[in-house]
Amino acid sequence: NSVKAFAPATVANVACGFDIFGFAIKEPGDVVELRRCDEPGIVIADIIGDEGRLPRSAEKNSVTGVMLHMLKHLGIKDFGCEVVLHKNMPLGSGMGSSAASAVAGVMAINEMLGQPFTRQELLPFAMEGERIASGSAHADNVGPSLLGGFVVIRSYNPLDIFTIPVPDDLYCTLVHPDIEINTKDARFILKNEVSLKNTIAQMGNVAGLVAGLMKSDYDLISRSMVDVIIEPVRSILIPDFKEVKQAALSNGALGCSISGSGPSMFALSRGLENANNAATAMRARFAQAGIESAIHVSAI
Ligand code: HSE
Repeated sequence: NSVKAFAPATVANVACGFDIFGFAIKEPGDVVELRRCDEPGIVIADIIGDEGRLPRSAEKNSVTGVMLHMLKHLGIKDFGCEVVLHKNMPLGSGMGSSAASAVAGVMAINEMLGQPFTRQELLPFAMEGERIASGSAHADNVGPSLLGGFVVIRSYNPLDIFTIPVPDDLYCTLVHPDIEINTKDARFILKNEVSLKNTIAQMGNVAGLVAGLMKSDYDLISRSMVDVIIEPVRSILIPDFKEVKQAALSNGALGCSISGSGPSMFALSRGLENANNAATAMRARFAQAGIESAIHVSAI
């Protein structure tokens, strides 16, 4: 027997919520296919779309590493399967690429094992995949990729994660410039200390964004999509960041920031037309800097 699971790309941080906010988009997403074998053990049969860059050994690859972890947790020794991973988004893109693979992996094996875990229970396993891939078990990509919608992580220890409603006509524009940033590096450059002044500003925006989304208050959403802690540091890694952001804001977007650890940038807009206009403007501005980019516009 065989199973197939899909897990979508995600936008983590959402401006002010470093490591605590993330939302899923409809596509692209990664797909994991499993085929049951008689021989015990997990074997990577193929990875399509990674240009040969991901590890092929089951222990080192984060998708299969997580599956092995799950089998160990359940005390299952005689299980065998072949894995095919379809990578439908670039590595190091800021679109939650490693998370989508890990989530598709845990969902596929859970299905094949007869669903021993609920979606919520799969979360810590998928987070382990993030630890293998980037050295940090953040949940702001795996959370929304697994649960869908807009996710808030109130606490990591103990894990306290929930989804909040968002307005029906809120659209995301995701623009991926053709450069690569490794999450590990993008975390390494962050400062460990934050001033009290910036903490207060960030807390106000976090509260404002949650309230704005839940009340469908677009002005409040717009005012709250401000990151005074992470964006000023990481934006130096993205060519013409300020200009691309301004292009989005001048063309109908409510707010714009870095998607996850970058280099992708995202904007939120009211209505599809504004989201498409922001996409065109952002892409054109990247092109002016000599950088090709791919666009994804999606309801959230
Ligand atoms: N919160 C994580 C970070 C997301 O910004 O490093 C990585 O996609």
